[in-house]
Amino acid sequence: MALRDILKMGDPRLLRVAQPVTAFDSDALHLLVTDMLDTMRAADGAGLAAPQIGVDFQVVIFGTNSVNPRYPQASPVPRTVLINPVITPLSSDETEDWEGCLSVPGLRGKVPRFEHIRYTGFDQYGDPIDRTVDGFHARVVQHECDHLIGKLYPMRVRDFTQFGFTSVLFPELQ
Ligand code: NI
Repeated sequence: MALRDILKMGDPRLLRVAQPVTAFDSDALHLLVTDMLDTMRAADGAGLAAPQIGVDFQVVIFGTNSVNPRYPQASPVPRTVLINPVITPLSSDETEDWEGCLSVPGLRGKVPRFEHIRYTGFDQYGDPIDRTVDGFHARVVQHECDHLIGKLYPMRVRDFTQFGFTSVLFPELQ
């Protein structure tokens, strides 16, 4: 088990556009995914993107198969490794809801996201993934994939009255 340091907002490596993965089912890719899963689990994250540990590739992981203590209201999302993702919004419907990020510790903000999306990509073995999802699942995928284009959720906040410290907004989560 290898826990990797999670970069925090302000680190320029979080602002890069990540490179596509070209070699699947490799030792290096399996090691990266294992480290990401260990790191996400240790931090109770709902997702993690490779740029958050300083790795410049289009790899994200997300999902919890049980209740996540950081997002106790959220319905479970299957644990997924998603590589070279492409997101297609299926309608212009947006919803706003609270998000946090392991690279922005201690804060939450209300972020607009597409409600209905299709996403495609590959798992670490190179097998294709093609899903149509909505709600929290769609939100998590959009948040994680934003990390691959150098976007952190505060850059998506429209109403900064809806942005603040988790300990103030949601004391029950402490
Ligand atoms: Ni994040």
